[in-house]
Amino acid sequence: MDSLLAWRKEFPILDRTTYMISHSLGAMPRRAAGRLREFSDTWASRGIRAWEEGWWEMPITVGNLVGSIIGAGEGEVVMQQNVSICQSIVTSCFDWSGRRNKLVTDGLNFPSNDYVYHGLARVGARVESVPSPDSLTLPVELLLKAIDDETQLVSVSHVAFRSSYLQDLAAIVERAHAVGAMVIADLYQSAGTVPVNVRELQLDFATGGSVKWLCGGPGSGVPVRAARPLEQAEPYCYGMDGAPRAVRVRGRADPVRWRRLPLSQRYTERSGFVFGQVGLRNHP
Ligand SMILES: Cc1ncc(COP(=O)(O)O)c(C=O)c1O
Repeated sequence: MDSLLAWRKEFPILDRTTYMISHSLGAMPRRAAGRLREFSDTWASRGIRAWEEGWWEMPITVGNLVGSIIGAGEGEVVMQQNVSICQSIVTSCFDWSGRRNKLVTDGLNFPSNDYVYHGLARVGARVESVPSPDSLTLPVELLLKAIDDETQLVSVSHVAFRSSYLQDLAAIVERAHAVGAMVIADLYQSAGTVPVNVRELQLDFATGGSVKWLCGGPGSGVPVRAARPLEQAEPYCYGMDGAPRAVRVRGRADPVRWRRLPLSQRYTERSGFVFGQVGLRNHP
């Protein structure tokens, strides 16, 4: 018998349903109910002390779990509320006002990624969306042709949400890096379904989420990962937890100290997202 079949009993909905919509919302793991209870018990019994007893670091400790699935190292993945926030943080790292202001996006990208990119036109970005010839596939040569020395960022879906088309990330990264551009890959439909190793691929950034194939629960966040030291890629959009403790308490921004923080913490937002991460902690 396939050893994976033993896992079916961990997902109560499978007792009653043929569940074929994990690309939208993964089946809830049985143990999620206990974790949700644990969360509310902690809130009720520990109050503000819960921050110091694990909640504050949870975007990073949960990020490490996701990282182990996609080939990232410790501290290279941080949880966010959703992919759109993540895309906004990453694209805020770049100056779009100069000659290198082109953002190449694939025509099969998820539309909400493109919403963020089109918003960047207001700060100077030129968005080039490479169309799919048949709305299902996007031969990599078409994307490679669009990447030139005015390109700042290339955004691609690893597995297209519309058709399951698997894109050749390695070829895109090679071309982008050769002309001095960076790459952000959306792994939402690939992490958990096909092998992904962000380090081997040399990706600069990746987004994805725990809600779907990772069965991590609604509202869970998105990892950001950096393949290279990103001293030159600082987001202007970060939150309370993205600041050194003394600074966040005193309420004064300190960019010099911020740069000394571990990478994942620098990309951390804050507030109200711990709940969404409870489900993911069920995975051994
Ligand atoms: C590939 C892909 N990217 C992004 C998103 C949007 O994610 P979010 O709602 O977390 O911004 C989805 C949602 O279905 C998706 O499938």
